[in-house]
Amino acid sequence: MAKETLTIVDNRTGKSYEIPIKEETIRATDLRQIKVHPDDFGLMTYDPAFMNTAACRSAITFIDGDKGILEYRGYPIDQLAERSSYLETAWLLLHGELPSKSQLEEWKHDVTYHTFINENLKSLLDAFRYNAHPMGKLIATLAALGTFYPEAKNIFDVEGREKQITRLVAKMITIAAFGYRHMMGQPYSYPDNELSYTGNFLNMMYKTTEVKYQPPPALERALDVLFILHADHEQNCSANAMRAVGSSHVDPYSAVAAAAAALYGPLHGGANEEVIRMLSEIGSVKNVKAFIDKVKAGEGVRLMGFGHRVYKNYDPRARIIKKVAYEVFEITGKSPLLDIALELEKIALEDDYFVKRKLYPNVDFYSGLIYQAMKFPMDMFPVLFAIPRVSGWLAQWQEMLNDPDQKIARPRQIFVGARKRDYVPMEKRR
Ligand code: CMC
Repeated sequence: MAKETLTIVDNRTGKSYEIPIKEETIRATDLRQIKVHPDDFGLMTYDPAFMNTAACRSAITFIDGDKGILEYRGYPIDQLAERSSYLETAWLLLHGELPSKSQLEEWKHDVTYHTFINENLKSLLDAFRYNAHPMGKLIATLAALGTFYPEAKNIFDVEGREKQITRLVAKMITIAAFGYRHMMGQPYSYPDNELSYTGNFLNMMYKTTEVKYQPPPALERALDVLFILHADHEQNCSANAMRAVGSSHVDPYSAVAAAAAALYGPLHGGANEEVIRMLSEIGSVKNVKAFIDKVKAGEGVRLMGFGHRVYKNYDPRARIIKKVAYEVFEITGKSPLLDIALELEKIALEDDYFVKRKLYPNVDFYSGLIYQAMKFPMDMFPVLFAIPRVSGWLAQWQEMLNDPDQKIARPRQIFVGARKRDYVPMEKRR
């Protein structure tokens, strides 16, 4: 039987090393024994952006980018989108199994009854300018929220941790909606415990003078599906931020604020907004061909909502979102940008440039159209991404805390700067 090892010959010394292969991986620290001189540091790997480095072992989310597979805890994303709810999916991500009936009822109840936020946080929001970006407000409010729960620092108190997780999942919708009301200059609308998670969010976003807000069921469900699709995506930039910051054993509110900051970047949570801008700029179906030609000419224009670092096939989330888009448009009326999007997709999927590079629609291609049809301003799009992603971040954080292999994240560097030199007094500097 073939040995599960890798033999490395160091041509500098002629020495040979046998390194174990486990789970299709070698341990980077096994390379440290490879040295020329006994007092050398030993061989390292150089991998900016973690292109080929596993920083953890994880049992949460599985992706096969070539085959277009996405599973949470083994459950295919299309089955969850069709049959689960966001809160059930959040429980699954956090606990590893689907909840029993009573566990789900208790979880839903606990989340519902933790949606209120301390009134002082309203004063914090009021300190922002009316046009402050809602993601800036979200990040600041999440960090501030932790100061109300000093016991959250006890991250190894399992029961206490559960409480903070419930609070974070629950209060995300309140913080997000309050940020929107602040932007609109409208009075805050408080949570309604009789509504579902997404219904309650819509209530806090859009309730005006009615005594009781009734969320449109189709929109409530569409948002729930979008939340399921965005709940986790294994070791992406923000999950990595959550793990890295959490590895210092800071409280989960501070780590979630850091993860939300990572999500704010246009390369991560901001692409769906760019899709709307692109479709608006194209303006009409008759301009699609010329736009595609511009993209292919490599004039620095990209087809936003297309391509993915991991998926080299149709993003499975995009397929589901496209279906949801049609369901939403039945209620809201069709987005004028839909025909442009469909024409773009059709041409791109047949065009050699995109086929050769395996560029397919990703999750952001249709999600922006749905959010826009549901009357969310574009600035709110990354906030809508952040709300459900909190459950993924917290699942990744818990897994990291329980993993005996993990320590404070601290990468190595290849030092390329100047070495020891004497301080130069000002008068002698050039
Ligand atoms: N339009 C046109 N050409 C593209 C596109 C695109 N959207 N994406 C990649 N390419 C080309 C790129 O020019 C390159 O061509 P060549 O080999 O001739 O130089 C080739 O495809 C490979 O591209 P890459 O930039 O090396 O691929 P990457 O894996 O580094 O980038 C990406 C992935 C998502 C950043 C990129 O596809 C992109 O910029 N897409 C548009 C932005 C977008 O929709 N982002 C949302 C990602 S999904 C949200 C999430 O999960 O967080």
